[in-house]
Amino acid sequence: MRDVAVVGIGMIDFGELWEKSLRTMWAEAALAALTDAGVDSVDMVTIGCMSPGLFAGQEHLASLLADELGMAGVPAARVESACASGGLALRMAFAEVAGGLSDTVLVTGVEKMTDVDGADATFALGTAADQEWEGFHGITFPGLYAMLAQVHMQRHGTTSEQLAAVAVKNHANGLLNPHAQYHLKVSVEDVLASTMVADPLHLLDCSPVTDGAAALVITTVERARELGSERPMVKITGSGLATDTMALANRNDLSQLDGVRLAAERAYAMAGRKPEELHVVEVHDCFTIAEIMTTEAIGLFDPGFGASAVDKGLTSLHGKIPVNPSGGLKSKGHPVGATGVAQVAEIATQLWGEAGQRQVEGATIGLAQNMGGSGGSSTVHILEVAS
Ligand code: COA
Repeated sequence: MRDVAVVGIGMIDFGELWEKSLRTMWAEAALAALTDAGVDSVDMVTIGCMSPGLFAGQEHLASLLADELGMAGVPAARVESACASGGLALRMAFAEVAGGLSDTVLVTGVEKMTDVDGADATFALGTAADQEWEGFHGITFPGLYAMLAQVHMQRHGTTSEQLAAVAVKNHANGLLNPHAQYHLKVSVEDVLASTMVADPLHLLDCSPVTDGAAALVITTVERARELGSERPMVKITGSGLATDTMALANRNDLSQLDGVRLAAERAYAMAGRKPEELHVVEVHDCFTIAEIMTTEAIGLFDPGFGASAVDKGLTSLHGKIPVNPSGGLKSKGHPVGATGVAQVAEIATQLWGEAGQRQVEGATIGLAQNMGGSGGSSTVHILEVAS
């Protein structure tokens, strides 16, 4: 396998972007990444997008979006793995470059979610659950994650206050991220007083519905050197992809996310790294319980200790292992197809030392974990400053 480097990132401000179409958002992020990388042509474009048909009435994104950039003719592919579509777009692009099929790939993620009303958005998101065994019975994603939270609480004594502490931390980090959807300081009391969505998850335990796009340019280490950037060389040293059962009813243990654990194990094995070597982490906090469970699944904490780690400040911006310095999905927003790409953009920014007020000092090894549905799919990528 060839070594792969990240040489450019592009982010747009996430939010309720009524004035921007899917293709406009995508093109803004893609052009920003190409400009950042200093390249004007690529060998391949990958696009993570969960449900452009249901959210925006548009399919066949690969040709639509390549054409939008004036790149008609370039190989392009949209990939889908629910909310892990962005992570999958990177995985596919990583394989292209590492395997020698392409030298330089534009990796993108996009989702236009707010042009439909709340019920239609909930339906579209719900197609990422098992329709026969879950969706048909009326369960939604807040409901599925609420069930995971209930089990975690029963098994490990996790409390609503500890769930709320995740939202408090991530909203505090999001205040420092100009791209975040919500610049909102919240307290534990605010979270507990917000509307109950699915017991025990309140409104402020949930990620929002978001429009957004993000992009990366990845290439070989040789090409990265030719580009002559003054930034430290950041390589993707580990890539893990895994699945789990779609329906929660088929899981052995609802207090753990086995697909996330498997993806992380594969990424650590490829990179030759251990969880304790990480300096900064972005995980898929689509609900506060998800951050607790994913930090356990990627091995930062033993099962049952993810919640107390937040309480103790271990995952805060200046804690032992900062988690979601970007503000996470909770505050930055969760345009589902874009999320996995945006997470890696944050880790690259941190490793380049360009994260401004939310910089994790001295970070040279980071991890991004992206998850589809209630953990039915997961990607994990490890990035490192090359020595
Ligand atoms: N965090 C913080 N604030 C939020 C929010 C969130 N997750 N969701 C909505 N708000 C705010 C809105 O900005 C709005 O504020 P305003 O009154 O000052 O304008 C207010 O809360 C009400 O917003 P509204 O859009 O009417 O909320 P809603 O009840 O329709 O939706 C949720 C709230 C939590 C149900 C919705 O955001 C949701 O479904 N989130 C989960 C998305 C999801 O499942 N993603 C996939 C994960 S696997």
